[in-house]
Amino acid sequence: MRHFTNVHDLGDLQLALREAFDIKADKYKYCELGKNKTLMMIFFNSSLRTRLSTQKAAMNLGMNVMVLDVNQGAWKLETERGVVMDGDKPEHLLEAIPVMSCYCDVIGVRSFARFEKRTDDYEEKILNQFIRYSSRPVISMESATRHPLQSFADLITIEEYKKTDRPKVVMSWAPHPKALPQAVPNSFAEWMNATDYEFVITHPKGYELDPVFVGNARVEYDQDKAFEGADFIYAKNWSAYNEADYGKVLSKDMSWTVDERKMKLTNNAYFMHCLPVRRNMIVTDDVIESENSLVIPEAANREISAQTVLKKILESL
Ligand code: CP
Repeated sequence: MRHFTNVHDLGDLQLALREAFDIKADKYKYCELGKNKTLMMIFFNSSLRTRLSTQKAAMNLGMNVMVLDVNQGAWKLETERGVVMDGDKPEHLLEAIPVMSCYCDVIGVRSFARFEKRTDDYEEKILNQFIRYSSRPVISMESATRHPLQSFADLITIEEYKKTDRPKVVMSWAPHPKALPQAVPNSFAEWMNATDYEFVITHPKGYELDPVFVGNARVEYDQDKAFEGADFIYAKNWSAYNEADYGKVLSKDMSWTVDERKMKLTNNAYFMHCLPVRRNMIVTDDVIESENSLVIPEAANREISAQTVLKKILESL
């Protein structure tokens, strides 16, 4: 595998899952594979889980790790070509990328949607510049449109907890005070569409996702109806995708918060969320603290998804 930016980069998903469970059974089995290899993790945005789990995964493989927070201590980076750089950004990404790649073997990048222009975000301008100019394998640690390390961990978690071969998985929009990107829901939908699960997306009108990611999912505007018989509830907020409202918060309707009444409509479903989560906006305390909440095992599986991806990349160097 050269780069990891979406589900298709993994190749055979069942094989990748087997590799993930093999790693989970013994995290240090491949501790020599990354010897004298360096992972550089570059963050344009904040992180808790991605930073720690990816670093731990690299260390399990024997890699060295360097972390750069672009907004803390580095030169401010210009990302647009053609700009007269007479402002507050003294370095251009087009020099910074090849320089950074001199010091490492694999690059991880986190760069969220900026909500300035939908086309810029959906063309993945920042991530693609890293792929084009770094000459190194690039791992998305959440880009403008996708969060594949999270989705892989979500899939591993569902595979661990599912009670039937073809569980009903429901991704539900839930309220949030701020405008969030569509990367996590896009990505989760992309990965669920790569399985044979029954997959339903529920959200208020106006929050339709890019049809490319919705794929074969059933979209249900009635949240109660969507929850009926569900085996997994995956809650997430996202802002509007449609061109006219791109990146806007159209609703903070608290009737969409995942609560005990709604969970009772399900087939004793597990509750999932990628974290960080706004309690009593997205989900009530009772649901997230219940024995059916998988948010911690899901976060733990971030180490496994990252290690599986890094292993596959190291094997191809
Ligand atoms: N779920 C996730 O990516 O968490 P962080 O933003 O803390 O990395």
